[in-house]
Amino acid sequence: MSFKKSLLAAGAIMAAISVSAVAQAEPEAEVLHWWTSGGEAKALKALKEDYEANGGKWIDSPIAGGGGDAAMTVLRTRVLAGDAPAAVQLKGPAIQEWAAEGVVADLNKVAAAEKWDEVVPPLLQKIVKHEGKYVAVPVNIHRVDWIWANPEVLAKVGADIPTSWDEFNAVADKLQAQGITPLAHGGQPWQDATVFETVVLGLGGPEFFNKALVELDEDALKSDTMKQVFDQMRKIRGYVDSDFSGRDWNLATNMVMNGEAAMQIMGDWAKGEFLAAGKQPGKDFICAPTPTKGGAFVLNSDSFVMFNVDGDDKKAGQELLAELILGEKFQETFNLYKGSIPARTGVPRTNFDTCATRGMDDLEASMSGGTLVPSMAHGIALPGHLSGAIVDVVTEHFNSDMSSDEAVTKLAEAIELAKD
Ligand code: GAL
Repeated sequence: MSFKKSLLAAGAIMAAISVSAVAQAEPEAEVLHWWTSGGEAKALKALKEDYEANGGKWIDSPIAGGGGDAAMTVLRTRVLAGDAPAAVQLKGPAIQEWAAEGVVADLNKVAAAEKWDEVVPPLLQKIVKHEGKYVAVPVNIHRVDWIWANPEVLAKVGADIPTSWDEFNAVADKLQAQGITPLAHGGQPWQDATVFETVVLGLGGPEFFNKALVELDEDALKSDTMKQVFDQMRKIRGYVDSDFSGRDWNLATNMVMNGEAAMQIMGDWAKGEFLAAGKQPGKDFICAPTPTKGGAFVLNSDSFVMFNVDGDDKKAGQELLAELILGEKFQETFNLYKGSIPARTGVPRTNFDTCATRGMDDLEASMSGGTLVPSMAHGIALPGHLSGAIVDVVTEHFNSDMSSDEAVTKLAEAIELAKD
């Protein structure tokens, strides 16, 4: 072989090696999340399996703690240490905050290839885009304002799921008179806040909800309506059992399952727990929206954000994950386990149960009726420092004998301080 020919041959070999090095990028992703309960873990496993079936290496980083407070603390520490995980469960304004720090990947390439603009509802696009670019992949739509109930237990007092807060109190009184715990609750700040926001919606309606918990309007925060909300929270405190403090939300769901309590106020991830335990909707458990003045929906939506990482394998891993999450089939599988509804259009309703289809209908109705509200308790309405100020007061009130007058004053003060 001439020198020239052998050089060419060597060049061809080098080119082949570098092509195969790219082709051989072994996609991998460390995924930081807080999905550790029975239903959550099943849903997450579906994602992991899909990822692995498509050649990805999944590195699991679970940080237990419902609502994700613990996971967010770990995330901050990791990013500060220059060791960000590849993919992180994140939502709402926190997505915007991290994107503004310049530490998250631009997903526009995958988004264009997968036509996200066409399949992701505008409602979610607003949450997952930063300055016009996709920086997160939505995975689901969760509804917060649900009551989950054990029909057999309710039947003991001849009741159905209450449709007003007065009726709620009347049913709870009857249950209590029979020695039954009316409400399964876990005394953790985010769970107190979950109940609180459904009461705000129920007693004030969506317009009041927005004024108080989104616009943080001082008059709304100090209003008589807000005092009534705290009055109702005080009543609710009387309807939980004496061991409620610190209890995880899924253990509260178990209490309803086992007939130890009649109802739980929780987002539809609770349905994931019932289903994971083999329970059937309409038979073993029933669902209905928490009492409202008609047609509202408290929105929560999980998504994954890809943090800036080095290395082809990691980058390929992020792209693969982003692409799979919004796949039609995957969206069905995942959301059936999770209790949520799909984050994209085009997924058939056929396999979704009545709680889910009720959620889909109510979501549409609330969007056209202007009664959709973002969850404060689940990080959709406000950045963490503001929702944290509200949650602190709600929890302090729930765990003390603070009056409603004092609670609204504290609420307005806490917000003023947090805004500075
Ligand atoms: C929510 C989250 C849900 C569920 C729940 C309990 O904030 O959006 O997906 O995991 O916390 O952990």
